[in-house]
This record gives sequence, C-alpha cells and structure tokens, in this order.
Amino acid sequence: MSKLTLSLLSALFFVTIAISQDLPTDYLPADFHKERRDAVREKLPPNTAVVLFANAERNRANDVDYVYHQDPNFYYLTGYKEPNAVLVIFSEKQTDANGNTFDEIFYVQERNARAEQWTGKRLGVKGVKEKLGFNAVYNGSEFENFPLDFTSFDNVSFVDFHNDYRDKSGSADLFDLIKTFKIKANYPSDYNPIRNSLYKRIASANADNSNEVVETIERYLERYEELQDDEILNDFVEANDDEIRDEIKNKVLVIQRSTNLDSSILPKVMAELRQDKTPGEMKLLKKAIEISAVGQIEVMKAMHPNMSEAEIQGVHEYVYKRYGAEYEGYPSIVGGGHNGCILHYIENNKTKVGDDLVLMDLGAEYHGYTADVTRTIPANGKFSPEQKAIYDIVYNAQEAGIAASVVGASFGEPHKAALEVVTQGLMDLGIIKDAKEARTYFPHGTSHYLGLDVHDAGTYQAFKPNQVITVEPGIYIPENSDCDEKWWGIAVRIEDDILIREDGPINLSGMAPRTTEAIEEVMKQPSPLDSFKLPKLD
Ligand code: GLY
Ligand code: MN
Ligand code: MN
Repeated sequence: MSKLTLSLLSALFFVTIAISQDLPTDYLPADFHKERRDAVREKLPPNTAVVLFANAERNRANDVDYVYHQDPNFYYLTGYKEPNAVLVIFSEKQTDANGNTFDEIFYVQERNARAEQWTGKRLGVKGVKEKLGFNAVYNGSEFENFPLDFTSFDNVSFVDFHNDYRDKSGSADLFDLIKTFKIKANYPSDYNPIRNSLYKRIASANADNSNEVVETIERYLERYEELQDDEILNDFVEANDDEIRDEIKNKVLVIQRSTNLDSSILPKVMAELRQDKTPGEMKLLKKAIEISAVGQIEVMKAMHPNMSEAEIQGVHEYVYKRYGAEYEGYPSIVGGGHNGCILHYIENNKTKVGDDLVLMDLGAEYHGYTADVTRTIPANGKFSPEQKAIYDIVYNAQEAGIAASVVGASFGEPHKAALEVVTQGLMDLGIIKDAKEARTYFPHGTSHYLGLDVHDAGTYQAFKPNQVITVEPGIYIPENSDCDEKWWGIAVRIEDDILIREDGPINLSGMAPRTTEAIEEVMKQPSPLDSFKLPKLD
C-alpha cells in the first residue's frame, strides 16, 4: 500500500470517528428494548400474538408534516424512530416452513435513496438487524404475503386504531400495513374495543364483583354514545338476579369465542412495565428533568416585565437545545396573569407579562423521556401580598402531596393531601365558604406518571419504588370569580417530578427554587440575556 493511500485511509478513519463522535452516545441500548420485549412476552397469556404499529405521520398543512414522533410503546419495545412499521411479538416460539424458529417479527420501512435524499436516512432491514438487534426483520411490503396466520392464536392483541392516518402514495405505508392486518386478522368492520373489553368484564363477573362491573358499564354507557343501544350491556345493568346475569354471561362467552381480537391485554401489560423505570430509563428521565429545572432557573434570572410569553418560552427551549434535548415533551405553557388560569394555555402570545405572575409549565424531552415542571414567578421579581398568599397555599399543598408520595400509598393520596391544604387555605382567605367550592379553583388532579409520555402509562395502583410521578397542585382564580376582586387573575401551579423510593420521595426537579423567598433571590441574579441585544425591526 502506498504512503499516499495509507494517509488517505487514515484521514478517512479519523473523519469517520469525528463524525460518529458528533452524535449522542447515550441512547438506550438495543439490549434494553430486547429485554423489554422479553418482559412483555412473560406477561402474555399463552398462544397470544401482539401487534404494534409505528405512530402515524401527521400532516401540518399542504405538503408539510408535523415533526415525526414515534409511538412511545413502539419506541420502548424497539428503539426504532421511523414511521411505517409493524412489530409482532409472540408469547411462544413459532416455527416457519423451513424449520426456523422466531418469537418476534419486525416489518420496517424500506430503504429508498430518493426518499432518503429528501427526508433523511432510513435504517432498513440491515440497519435494524445490526443496530437494533432484531433477527427476523423484513420490509413492510412483505407483510401482506407473509405466511402469518393470526386466526391460529387464542388472542391477537393490539391497541385499537384511531383512524387518524392517511393513505400516502407508495406501498407499505401505515395505511396499507393496517389494512393488511385487518384482513389477516378478520377485523370486523364494527369492532369496538371498549365493548369488547366490557364483554370481557361480564364474562369474568361473579357474585362478589358484579356490582362493580355494573358500575363500570354504567360509566361507559354514559360516556360513549355508540354503546348506548348495546342490548347485552343494557341487559347486564338491568339484571336483578344472578340467574339472569349467568344467562347474559353465557351469551357473551359465545360471542367472545367468535373473535380472538383483543385490545385490553396490551395496554395493561405496557402500563405495568412502563410505570416501573429501569436504571437506564432513570438516567435519561433525570437528565430531561434537570435540563427543565435549569431552564426555569435561567428564566428566573432573565425575567422582566417587558418580556413576552413567547420570548420566555424561547429561553426555556433554548436551554433544552443547549443540553441536547430533541423536543419539548408537550407544547410549552407560558401564561402571564389570567392566561395562567387556562390549564393547558399554549397560545403564548401576550406581548408583555407586566407585573403579573407568569405560570410556566414546560418539559424537555431527552432521548424520548420527558420532564414536566411548572414554576410560577412574579415577572417583576417580587410577589405581591395577594400573590404570595395564594402561592404559599399551593406550596404547602405540594409539600403535603410530596410527603404522601410513598411506597404502598394509593395513587390518590397526594391529591387527597393537596386538596385538603388548598381547601383549608381558600377558606382561611375567605375565597370560598364551603369546602366543596375548592374544586372550582383547583379543578385538576395532582399526579400522573411520567416517562416516555408526559402523562405516562401506568396502572394507577399503590406506589412502588422506581416510579416517577408529578405532584402539581394549583389554584386558578379567573376574572369575575365569586370572591374579592383582589384575587382575580392570580393563577399558581407548582409542579415537580418525584421519584418514589423505599426511603421516601425524591424531588428530581428540586434544583429549581420553589419557595417565594428562593425564587425572589434567584430573580435578583444577572442573566447573560441582559446583554443580548437584537436590532430593532420595523
Ligand atoms: N403539562 C401537563 C401537565 O402538567 O399535566
Ligand atoms: Mn403534569
Ligand atoms: Mn405540567
């Protein structure tokens, strides 16, 4: 080999290394996703196939789509970030005509040089085998003719479709994959997953739990118009003795034997798995939360009354990007004054926040895991007596909620504790006269799981170690509320991300100040943005 060739090769080697070093290296490894698929398999009833689809691509306008985001269940089980893919997991090993065995099949987006020039690299079959560690990988176009007999399983479990995907040109897009699945699995045109799961509840009802089943059915009948004429559901609700209930149960069993489709196993299995975070997941989730807490601190330093809601949002999101967070886990909420009373206010278009409180509920998404942190701060750096009075109630409510977030407590405990403090506080200030009125000013829950989704999958049962929840009480007093005018327009939410541990709750977002004193202190600090001047535009 000539000297020149050698030096060219070594230059290429270093360029390759340099390029690969420019990419993040802390994604969850293929082994994590593989181990999670094994965990799913362990929870499945015998002879079950689960079928998961990649998220749909969604159109923003004309020929522009929204930035693609993978379905969190799909990402959890594959690490695959592209659309137009199907994953099938089997509870037991299957054998093909050639005697090869497999317990999962992954159909992925085909490589296409022209498409990749416009929208970016695809892994393709080879890349998925090499990088994501799957063995049985095929192009999506092979799904249709693949000898896969869904009718031979006792359960074919999937998350039902929301019918919010488009048929794009070209073959093997999500539309085609779902169409193929429906044909292969004998999916009836009137399939209703909720009816299906209520029938399941009836089939397993007994003398001890039939009242509970009736209550569940009643709740669903009230909520879902399309179920209201269902004879079986109505008959079960009206049945007044066990004999009639048994007759209905038998009818349901006959109907159930006619289909193996199921939409209740998979969400339950995923909730059970996703609510308990592994150490690898915790690393990413903690990072997302700490990034978001730093965002709050930087905004506290930069805040002044002439700032717009959008600029405040921009500062948070800039901090996220500086740390390598790809997205926000949900549209950022920045509400000055009474805008904070709109719980999920995302217009963020007030041009000056003035002397009001600013409610900032934002979360960085880092490698799929999202934070959810809220701070409410006075734009001018000092809480007014009224603002402080409301703030302190919410703070004490949050403290009570966090203290109640302990292993073994039921999921509702933090809310119960927080609501009690808010109720007493509002009574003491004369804002309400009756405890029942507290919900007018504190109209939401206090906690949800956090993870790949901001409102993450979980069973909402008693707390276990390594679960992460939010504790987020709030008080919102819109204009024209039935109380003294001096409270109008005050909206406060404080939201932290709490890790449940054997030795007590840990506040993962605690780095961002929460007391009025600590917030006022940080707001006195200079910000690098103080000297960031831009030219005036017409
Ligand atoms: N940011 C949405 C929530 O707090 O639940
Ligand atoms: Mn939340
Ligand atoms: Mn939030």
